[in-house]
Amino acid sequence: MNKKITKVISLMAVFGCVAIAFTSCGKHDANSPGVEFMPDMYRSPSLESNMAYVKIENGKETGDTMQANRMPVAGTIPRGFMPYAFPDSPEGNEAAKTGAKNPLQKNEKNLKDGEVLYGKFCVHCHGATGMGDGAVGLKLPGAPPAYTAPDKINMTEGELFQIITYGKGLMGPHAPLVNQEERWKLVLYVQKLQHPNGVAAPAAAADSTATAAAPKEEAKKK
Ligand code: HEC
Repeated sequence: MNKKITKVISLMAVFGCVAIAFTSCGKHDANSPGVEFMPDMYRSPSLESNMAYVKIENGKETGDTMQANRMPVAGTIPRGFMPYAFPDSPEGNEAAKTGAKNPLQKNEKNLKDGEVLYGKFCVHCHGATGMGDGAVGLKLPGAPPAYTAPDKINMTEGELFQIITYGKGLMGPHAPLVNQEERWKLVLYVQKLQHPNGVAAPAAAADSTATAAAPKEEAKKK
């Protein structure tokens, strides 16, 4: 009985040693993955996309690399994607002020979508009515100003889009969170919060007064 137990224990010890030998790190190269016990599981024979492969001939690396697929031509964009022309810089902000135009119509659906997005991404800082009194906004060292503050109410759609895209001060950039179309919907909704009565009026009229007034304001300030 005792002999049997010692046999089992020594077998386990041998197995343990073998396991450690296979899994321990390579001695010479700190980056070596060590012995690959079942390399087939790591290295599938099929080519993975966007992977560079080292060319091997007669068991030796030739120094060439091969790629499973070709890199797209420089400047390639996904189908349906519109690049945004205004960079995150003082010049970009200035140019976007009048240059960036909302491609979306101010209709019920887009406003509703904007409201839903606002409820997910903005309300906690800016508050439900855009007064800057969201639960998180009030905890910030400087709460966001109300969208209707005298120096904010006449911001152009381009300025609003630029801020939502790249962020400002304590507000982070939202380009990684919401796509361009969603950001323009948010612009529509912020404008609705700024001019709650403007929305009740015919959309086109409200729009033209909102955008036409803004550049004049800016001109006066200078
Ligand atoms: C982390 C809190 C936070 C979130 C989330 C946030 N903002 Fe802001 N936002 C701010 C702060 C703070 C400012 C003031 C920045 C400054 O002027 O330095 C600001 C400024 C703005 C401004 C400029 C006008 C103003 O009131 O100062 C707009 C427009 C704006 N945010 C829209 C949005 C929209 C739309 C969203 C949702 C997509 C959003 N923000 C999400 C904190 C936030």
